[in-house]
Amino acid sequence: MRQDTIFSPSFGNRPSQLVGREDVLSSLLAGLQTTPGSRERAVVMLGQRGSGKTVLLWELADQATAAGFAVATPTIAAEGMVGRIVEKIQDAGSRYVSERSARVTGGSMGALGFSAGLQFTRDVQETKSDAYKLTHLCRRLTERDRGVLVLVDELQANSPEVRSLIATYQELVGEGQNIALVMAGLPGAVSATLNDRVLTFLNRARKVTLEPLGFSEVDAFFLQAFRTLGLAVGDDLRRRASEATEGSPYLLQLVGHNLVLYAADDGTVDEGALESALESARRDFENDICETTLASLSDQDVAFLRAVAAEGGRARMSAVAKRMGVTPDYAQKYRKRLLNAGVITAPERGRVAIAIPHLTGYLQQG
Ligand SMILES: Nc1ncnc2c1ncn2[C@@H]1O[C@H](COP(=O)(O)OP(=O)(O)O)[C@@H](O)[C@H]1O
Ligand SMILES: [Mg+2]
Repeated sequence: MRQDTIFSPSFGNRPSQLVGREDVLSSLLAGLQTTPGSRERAVVMLGQRGSGKTVLLWELADQATAAGFAVATPTIAAEGMVGRIVEKIQDAGSRYVSERSARVTGGSMGALGFSAGLQFTRDVQETKSDAYKLTHLCRRLTERDRGVLVLVDELQANSPEVRSLIATYQELVGEGQNIALVMAGLPGAVSATLNDRVLTFLNRARKVTLEPLGFSEVDAFFLQAFRTLGLAVGDDLRRRASEATEGSPYLLQLVGHNLVLYAADDGTVDEGALESALESARRDFENDICETTLASLSDQDVAFLRAVAAEGGRARMSAVAKRMGVTPDYAQKYRKRLLNAGVITAPERGRVAIAIPHLTGYLQQG
């Protein structure tokens, strides 16, 4: 069988080539160059499952490291998060704070609490909180003109770890320390029902939304990738493959990988092979994305989505209410919840549209 050296459909897996996203990346990097405390330095990146959030965080980690930041690579918002971030900054920042210089400045205020480099004294290590340690690391690196970048993945606005991190971030910004924070999550991550300080912070942070990839970006990538892999795919079939990705990076990986699997030994991809590859890619996408999304919703939410799908994926609210057999007022309740969860959008007044690639087709099947 042909070796697939390009496509690897798997969550969090770095792709052999990042398609699109140049603009998002450069604007994130430009944000890091702004002065500490600027709004550009606190970013919330939102995107559907499989839109490439994790991969983009890792790419940002690499590029920010190359730009001289001490980067805490993507850490999942879960128990122990701040502690993990502290360790990662110690590792990443150690090259900027040599042990020798630690001895030289050993008596200064800035070095207090450190034994060598970015290692804490035993007392600090054992008795202080993670927030305390994070604060001292930032102060020490800021003294060296080094910025700290903290990357958080799978953001949950109501997680205690996220609260603690945000509180510390705000204090550090207040002190003028050189820190930046980028947190990625599902579109619904920020619209939690709580209305408190964390939520205010998240709402004020700069929002970056990972939109579906453009058709021409996907198509140009497929053209080049198939050539490299020695696949013979006609223009027309290739365009159909590009179309089938619906701009989802995950679906792009699935479609590409399955084309490699279904290609003939000599690399030819005919109509039949394309159909089989698309079918197989869709099945995986339905399992991993559609099912997961629906499982996170209530039965009535799903009924609402089915009604929208039955109207073609974009519908008038009046038509949705009618199909659900409920009053328009009642249907509004579900509309609001699904908007908050990022599962639908409101493209214009009185209308809704399903926001997840391929979900419409999946719901239409039954
Ligand atoms: N810009 C991109 N170009 C090509 N493939 C991508 C891109 N972004 C993500 N992928 C691929 O899509 C899949 C899902 O990416 P991931 O970052 O895990 O998504 P998310 O974190 O948003 O759920 C992975 O297989 C990854 O390699
Ligand atoms: Mg992810």
